[in-house]
Amino acid sequence: MDRTGPDVDSLNTLRFTTERLLVDLPQPDDADVLFHLVGGPDRDAICATLAWDGPDDRSDTDWWIERCRTATYGEWGYHWVLRDRSGDLAGATGRALGAIGTRPTGVPGRGDVGYWLGRPYWSRGLVTEALTALVELGRTDLDYAKMEATVFATNPGGIRLVEKVGFEREGLIRRGHRKRGQWVDCALYGILL
Ligand SMILES: CC(C)(COP(=O)(O)OP(=O)(O)OC[C@H]1O[C@@H](n2cnc3c(N)ncnc32)[C@H](O)[C@@H]1OP(=O)(O)O)[C@@H](O)C(=O)NCCC(=O)NCCS
Repeated sequence: MDRTGPDVDSLNTLRFTTERLLVDLPQPDDADVLFHLVGGPDRDAICATLAWDGPDDRSDTDWWIERCRTATYGEWGYHWVLRDRSGDLAGATGRALGAIGTRPTGVPGRGDVGYWLGRPYWSRGLVTEALTALVELGRTDLDYAKMEATVFATNPGGIRLVEKVGFEREGLIRRGHRKRGQWVDCALYGILL
């Protein structure tokens, strides 16, 4: 497949829905909820398995939202907020639950994926739902030939999730990342589109 991925100079104008989620651009007024979810008491638990260490304060979340809205695909990738579509999950329709994104890898047509979900919403199949839809978007709107995920080998939930969605293991980078002063092996996963 001769696919080359999104135009590197484009802004993210895409949104999509799943059975329980609305997935669209972050808005400035999502900052309080997002910061509380990933920068509050659950920050260590959520960020333990991410390369990112989470926001230090509200202004970091404001900055992230602004970047998602104004930076091009080539500079920043495309990032979305996962929202409660019906209000049944978080008590309010449209409330932010987490985030998902895809970034260029340096090879046109290959994009990586990343995501986090607020802890109260774990283990309900929500990121399986979101990532399945993002892979479909990769196939249709993003013009990707391949999507990739780098998962800490110490993250069984992250590994089970990508395998469930259809990613295949391609290898292991020993000492792939240094997290909180410790080396972590990283499993590489990919799905051909
Ligand atoms: C990893 C994470 C994204 C999973 O999201 P989620 O919506 O809770 O995942 P799902 O409910 O869709 O679960 C997907 C599968 O993983 C399994 N799973 C989820 N968390 C797990 C855990 N901690 N240990 C083992 N399996 C787990 C689920 O049981 C499910 O498999 P099953 O259907 O066979 O039972 C979420 O826990 C999270 O945000 N963690 C912190 C950030 C992170 O690790 N991001 C990914 C970096 S690669």
